Formats: sequence, C-alpha cells, structure tokens
Amino acid sequence: MTTAPRKMQHLASLKLNCSVRERSLNPLIKVEGLAYVVIQRPDIDKASAFFADFGLLLDKHTGDSIYLRGRSELHHALVIEKGAAKFDRVGLTASAKDMQTLADHFSVPIQHRKPPMGGRFVCLQDPNGLTIEVNCELAKLPPIDRSLTPSWNTSDTKTRVNETVRKKIAPPPVHKLGHTVHSVRAIKESVHWYQDTFGLIVSDFQFLQDDNTPTVAFLRCDLGDTPTDHHTIAMALTPNLGHEHTAFELDSMEDIAIGQECMRKSQYKHSWGIGRHILGSQIFDYWRDSAGDMFEHYADGDLFDANTHTGYHLFNRDAQHQWGPAMSANFSGLDRPWNVLKNVVKRLFSDDELSVEKLKGFSRAMKTGAGTE
Ligand SMILES: [Fe+2]
Repeated sequence: MTTAPRKMQHLASLKLNCSVRERSLNPLIKVEGLAYVVIQRPDIDKASAFFADFGLLLDKHTGDSIYLRGRSELHHALVIEKGAAKFDRVGLTASAKDMQTLADHFSVPIQHRKPPMGGRFVCLQDPNGLTIEVNCELAKLPPIDRSLTPSWNTSDTKTRVNETVRKKIAPPPVHKLGHTVHSVRAIKESVHWYQDTFGLIVSDFQFLQDDNTPTVAFLRCDLGDTPTDHHTIAMALTPNLGHEHTAFELDSMEDIAIGQECMRKSQYKHSWGIGRHILGSQIFDYWRDSAGDMFEHYADGDLFDANTHTGYHLFNRDAQHQWGPAMSANFSGLDRPWNVLKNVVKRLFSDDELSVEKLKGFSRAMKTGAGTE
C-alpha cells in the first residue's frame, strides 16, 4: 500500500478507536465564548508595558489591577492583578439562564462583580484545578474604530490608484481575545468535563503514533449555525503542565509583521513565527513575557459552525504549521531541558496520564516530519 492510502487508513482507525468523544449529547449548558484571562504579576506596571507593546489597550488602572481591552466592543480581554507570577483564571460568557443552571448544579453562589467589568459570575474549578469564571451581563466597551489601510493592489486587481501606503510603525491594536491553550494531567477527563459542562465541540484531535488517546484537542463553542472560532480552548498532554499560551487576534498578516518589528525593538523574547498553522489555519507569531508565559498574535483563523465534523490528525514536528520557520525549541520548551525534566519526573510519580510511553511517543513525534510518517 502506498503512503497516502496507508495514512488515510490510519486516520480512519484513529477515529474509530479514539478514547475521547467528539461532543457531549446532553451538555449542562452551552457557553457563548471566551471573555478574558486573568494573570498575576508582582510588578503590574512592567507587565502592562509588555501588553501595551503587544497591542492591548489600557482601559483602567486601579490600585492592584490593570484592565486591558481590544478594539472590539467585547469585554475586557486581559486583567493583570498584583501577586506572585501565575496564570490565574479564565472567564467565559453564558446566558443568565445557563449561569443559574451551573450555580444550581454545582451548588455555587452567583457573585456580583464591581466595575469596571461588572456583571455576575459563578466560579468553578476544572479537573486540573484551573479556575473558570462563567459570566453574564459583563460591561460592554465602546468599540474603537481604526482607519484601515488603503485597498490592497493584487496582481490581478488594482484598486489603489494615485494613493500611497504609509504604515505607522507602532503596536497594531489587538482586536479581541481568541483562545487559551493548557497542558493537562488527563486529556480524556479534561475534554469530557468541558464537553459535559460547557457544550464545547472538538474541532480537531492530534495523536501520537500508535496511541488512541489524543495528545491535543482543539475545542470550540457550540453556537449552532453561527460560525465561531475553530478553537476557544485547547488542551494538550505535553511535558510542561499548565498554561501553554493565550492568543489575541490582529487584523492582518501585515499587522503581525509590524507587531513583530515593534516587539523586537523592545527586546522581548520571541518564541516562534511568523507562520501559518494547519489546524485553525491562523497566521501566528508567539512571544514570551518576563514571567515566561507565552502569548500569540494571530490573524485569519478558521470559523466553524456546529455542523463541521471533528478532524483526526497525527502529531509531529510538521503538524503544527503549513509554512514558516521550523518549530522553535523555545516554543516546544526543549530549550529549557532541566525545567522539562523536573516537571516530567514529578508527573511520572503522580496520578497523571503522562507516562514513559507517552514521552517516548512525544520525542519520536518531534523527530518525525510529515514526509516520514
Ligand atoms: Fe494558538
């Protein structure tokens, strides 16, 4: 059998034998989207300077918290609170009725939040101990207009005549928060919890060779016939547990390139990019802040409605991008081998799906390209 049919047969077998389901038939609620993430940093002004250079816009600075937003009329996208450096919690949105359902089911109180964010929320813990706040009636922000570039002259269609392009070399403003990705202890338990609790649907799975449990799952909201981002939350079983990255949308690839130039001038730590992902199709560029957390600029991501079927794919070093530089050691975490080793040793002796077999599979996958499967 030639390589292509063998690969098709293998992917069909993954679908048949996958230990994680694609969606829940009877979820408790259906969340509407991702509202914000909250991080803690000892020096909130220094953290805020990073995100200003990244393109987020300052809305409010109180004594211990900084509220940042994108241009869209959605809510605050990132909150920085004073405290020891950590990724603290994720905010989702739902209807008031669905929030009440969660409060009743989990026997948790509905809390009222003060301005500037306002609204009401319930606070849950996911199976990995990550705090998830589910919100309704968050304060909406007035949208911020942006004068767009004059039209783009393609080779076939020239619509810009007697007019020039002069780009402002400044951080391009973020449009909105897009998705957040986390490395988890047990992928089946985690994905099923998000499906059963919030109605999330798996857009795509990725698998290590000869493994029926996925190593990555990309989940989107179920908004019925309304298209939504390919993934709002993604989960991975990778050596470094916890927050992997959070992504913010920019308008165009040119914005990503200008963003990179600005971030490089400010001497921030570049991780990986510019390239185009395969699953989700986003054009991407990744940066690390001073606490080592990773944040992504992206543009031109896929939108799926609830009817699109789940995809099954192999995980390898070429499976994350269509074009662009090879995945960097900084992105995979392999430029900090002692850190990886410390995390792995701790996890091998805990109640965790990360096994020696998984690690061998992960190592093989990182040495395997699309042409060598
Ligand atoms: Fe991403």
